[in-house]
Amino acid sequence: MLHRAFDRFYEDLIKNACVEEFLKGVDLVRLKQSQLSSFLEADYDDDEAFFARFKQLGLFHFKMGLPYVEYRGAFDRLYAFLIDELEEVNDITGLPDAIELYIRRAINASAAGYLEPNLDNDQKTLERQNYTPSGALRQEGGAIAGGSFF
Ligand code: HEM
Repeated sequence: MLHRAFDRFYEDLIKNACVEEFLKGVDLVRLKQSQLSSFLEADYDDDEAFFARFKQLGLFHFKMGLPYVEYRGAFDRLYAFLIDELEEVNDITGLPDAIELYIRRAINASAAGYLEPNLDNDQKTLERQNYTPSGALRQEGGAIAGGSFF
C-alpha cells in the first residue's frame, strides 16, 4: 500500500511542470528510494529526531530553491495518495488518524526548515540596525521597558 502511494507520489512529482526545473539531471530512481526510505525510517524516530529530520529536509529543499508552496503541495498529495491506497488494506483501524498526524508533523517541522534561514536573515538585519529601539518602544516605562510586551 505504501509502495503504491509512493509510486503515485513520484509519478505526480515528475509530471508537475512547475517543478520540472528542479528535477533536471537528478537520478530519479535514487530520489524515489530516498523519499520512501526516509519516510519509513521516520516512523521509528522519537519526537525530537522526527522534528530534526523534517526540519533538515525542509531546509534542504529551501536551499534547492524549491518554492514552499510546491513542497507543501507535494505533502498534501502524498497524504491524499496514502489515504486513497488504504482501500487496499483490510483493517484500517487508527491508520487514517496516524497518517494525518504523521503528515501534519512532517509539514510543521519542514516549515521550520524553510523558515529558519529567513529568521537568520531577520536576525542579521536587526544586528545591522544595532537593535536601535524606535518609536514607542524607546520610551522610558514603555511596553518593553516595563518588562512585558503585552
Ligand atoms: C515538489 C516537491 C519536491 C521536489 C521537486 C523535490 C525534489 C527533490 C530533489 C531534486 C532532491 C535531490 C535529489 C538528489 O540530488 O539526489 C530531493 C531530495 C529528497 N527529497 Fe524531495 N522534492 C519534493 C518534495 C519532497 C517531499 C514532500 C518529500 C518528503 C516526503 C521529499 C523527500 C526527499 C528526500 C528524503 C530527499 C533526499 C534528501 C537527502 O539526500 O538528504 N521531497 N528532492
